Amino acid sequence: MVMSLMQSPPAAKTLIDGTEFDYFCGTGYFALHGHPDLIDAACQATQQYGLGPATRTFDHPVLLAVETQAARFFDTDAAHYYVSGYLGNTLLLKGLAPDYDVILIDSESHYSVFDGAAASGKPTVRFAHADPDALRDTLRATLKPGQRPLVITDGIFPTSGRIAPLPAYHQILKDYDQALLCVDDAHATGVLGEKGQGTLEYLGLQGEGCYSSGTLSKALGGFGGIIAGSDSFIKKIALKGASPVPLGAAAASATALSLLMQQPHLRQTLWDNARYAKAAFRTMGFTDIPDTPVPFFCLSGGGLDYKTLQEELHKQGRAVLYIPEGGYTEVPAGGAIRIAIFSTHTRAQIDCLVAAVSVLI
Ligand SMILES: Cc1ncc(COP(=O)(O)O)c(C=O)c1O
Repeated sequence: MVMSLMQSPPAAKTLIDGTEFDYFCGTGYFALHGHPDLIDAACQATQQYGLGPATRTFDHPVLLAVETQAARFFDTDAAHYYVSGYLGNTLLLKGLAPDYDVILIDSESHYSVFDGAAASGKPTVRFAHADPDALRDTLRATLKPGQRPLVITDGIFPTSGRIAPLPAYHQILKDYDQALLCVDDAHATGVLGEKGQGTLEYLGLQGEGCYSSGTLSKALGGFGGIIAGSDSFIKKIALKGASPVPLGAAAASATALSLLMQQPHLRQTLWDNARYAKAAFRTMGFTDIPDTPVPFFCLSGGGLDYKTLQEELHKQGRAVLYIPEGGYTEVPAGGAIRIAIFSTHTRAQIDCLVAAVSVLI
């Protein structure tokens, strides 16, 4: 099978197979993966300290810098930085294990959420996707008297871009003593909320009983997982027995956190671009696309041939992702096209994509 080769960092214009594409794929929503400040930081740290410290026997200035910047970014006492965002749900669910009895999990949650639930060893029950009534019914049907629930879900679902109905979940959980709400915020880190702290900030739910795990590998353009919180909470969830993030990627991640703190307008530009693109596709008939600042969405349904649509766009030099049914979480029958919007896309690029799709469907 011949695969297309990506030959430059992910950006609004990306080199693929020797051709410059209008690029609407992936998760680099601020196009930071190739940002000169991140690349300089990565090169300098690698030259000075090598690829990694092998183990975290001693504190390391580069790893500490990420955790210090992350604590500033999230307005918390502390943060824990570990080797992959994928592990974040495992850390939350294992670290919080003494504080809950049963996990309730959105049925379309990311793979890492299910893996984390399995690793916790706790009884786990699914509830219907993004459905507060289903959560209420499942809680009533599952919990024995005195049992403490923990509800976990993606904050933003990675295919549809739908935001989980967390305020409704939070309200429902008020009927249960010591209930916990955990969010996999991989796609919201740096993106949602005035300060980019994620879905809980965006929905005004930060506080007692609400937790999230994030990643620095997507919007931040660096690499690795991040969880922020109080000192005692961070001690509870910290990963043991794994090598830390390579130092070049760590230094880039620290730089990205400080860059996004210094340039909050980048988030406004991203939100404006996202709303602009989503409004255009809704007008075209994709009415399920949510009107939120989430910088990605999918085209699905209507009996359209999405694989052919992706191939035709590719021939025109426009890269979008086709996902077949079952190819990722939440992909409906007939497959879907996932479109990612960057803060660096021009309106002309978005207009051309919209025009191209409207001709092809
Ligand atoms: C919802 C969700 N959670 C977790 C992850 C894993 O994050 P990372 O790639 O930083 O390991 C992803 C990555 O694709 C994701 O989409």
